[in-house]
Amino acid sequence: MDFSITGQNPEQVVTDCVVVGVYEGQELTPSAQLLDTASRGLLSGLVKAGDIEGKTAQTLLLHQVEGVTAKRILLVGCGKKDKLTPSQFRKISTTALKFLDDSASESALLCLAELEVPGMGTHRKIRQLVEASHFTNYRFATTKSEKDTPSHPLGKIEIHGDPAAGAAQQALQQGNAIGLGVNLARELGNLPGNICTPTHLAKQAVQIAHDYKHMKATILEQKDLEKLGMGSFLSVAKGSREAPKLIVLEYQGADKNTQPHVLVGKGITFDSGGISIKPGAAMDEMKFDMCGAASVLGAMQAMGELQPKLNVVAIVPSCENLPDGNANKPGDIVTSMSGQTIEVLNTDAEGRLILCDALTYSEKFNPASVIDIATLTGACVVALGKHPAGLLGNNDALIEDIKAAANTSSDRVWQLPLWEDYQEQLKSNFADIANIGGPGAGTITAACFLSRFTKNLKWAHLDIAGVAWESGASKGATGRPVALLTQYLLDRCQ
Ligand code: BES
Ligand code: MN
Ligand code: ZN
Repeated sequence: MDFSITGQNPEQVVTDCVVVGVYEGQELTPSAQLLDTASRGLLSGLVKAGDIEGKTAQTLLLHQVEGVTAKRILLVGCGKKDKLTPSQFRKISTTALKFLDDSASESALLCLAELEVPGMGTHRKIRQLVEASHFTNYRFATTKSEKDTPSHPLGKIEIHGDPAAGAAQQALQQGNAIGLGVNLARELGNLPGNICTPTHLAKQAVQIAHDYKHMKATILEQKDLEKLGMGSFLSVAKGSREAPKLIVLEYQGADKNTQPHVLVGKGITFDSGGISIKPGAAMDEMKFDMCGAASVLGAMQAMGELQPKLNVVAIVPSCENLPDGNANKPGDIVTSMSGQTIEVLNTDAEGRLILCDALTYSEKFNPASVIDIATLTGACVVALGKHPAGLLGNNDALIEDIKAAANTSSDRVWQLPLWEDYQEQLKSNFADIANIGGPGAGTITAACFLSRFTKNLKWAHLDIAGVAWESGASKGATGRPVALLTQYLLDRCQ
């Protein structure tokens, strides 16, 4: 897709479709007013006649309007003018772009960055439009015989704005990098467990290192993990016939002595629960249990695209969690790389078992910050649903930085308390720590478990169990939180 900014008057732009907004209460946006004047009142007439009321995400397509150069005009409802929020802006832009994607238009002019959304500057709005273009453009087709490729693909998008503004060009670049990163994460998430194996994720990291400057991939194999003493990670992997991988992808955009920011992504390519096996319903969705890993790779690709001046290390522990004669059993005790022993009371609490060793490993990079991203607990879905990711950590400044990035990127988070009081739930009679904390506060006790391995780190944890994929008719990976992670990293180089 080709993106650009144009300052040309919308009625004069040569394009397949010009997109403008209509507010509720029969009010036209500035660009819609220009088209209205050029068409001698056609738009205001239609609005008065009730053809479009302006309710959020309503659409009305007009063809061959006299006085307007574009082949079509798409009117999009923007709701009440004084009630626009960032999430509504996203809804409006996604609706418009989805419409264009399904239509005969191969090019479009978007006049939506002019909507006034409190808390959203032009930069954010332009970036959001580019992200939405990539988002609606993505279709999963890899394992389908019929590729439903559109007969009129949308290839050229112009955004109405000030082309001389440096911020606008930067917004285009960032939106493009984030949009591509999100789609990479979605593709990896959507691929089935028999294709998207730990080996496949490792190949993906090697591919990124090959495609972009200042990027290096190192894949640690089973024997390397044994040497490092990653008994916890390996205990999960040993129930599977797929080779485990510890994927390390390093981006060096700054001086090599600059402390890196580390992202650790949970890469369970299928989670059956192991011997503590899960119920059958919707178990297929456990192919999405590597969405943390996918989001980390998506954010790394965005680093490759944008080449910011900072250092980032991605660490992805990846394996399957399956029942087997050699699998972890409830009551087994394993020794982590940190030396702490863990009683595996439930083999389905495997995410923390692979993450703890990856977090210990991250210490060797002397990181400025460490964020782990994981589809860690069903309890997080119960507590927060599908809108925010759960956020916990041991450093208030880091938590605030993540909240700020979440706000800027409209990729929301909600903090849960990591109080010392919860730690006692992890007491084991036979090991240093148990891998589950009982029925209460499952998301928090999971984070408490991780906190035992991050004492020397400035660390935060994102539980993305509720946000990483959609279920039901629109089942599929969302690519979250690539936008948040990319924003967090970009914020670090100012
Ligand atoms: N991958 C799951 C978490 C999950 C479950 C995410 C459902 C999204 C939807 C994780 O490995 C898991 O099984 N967690 C257990 C922990 C429990 C045994 C303490 C859970 O949430 O049930
Ligand atoms: Mn599990
Ligand atoms: Zn899992």
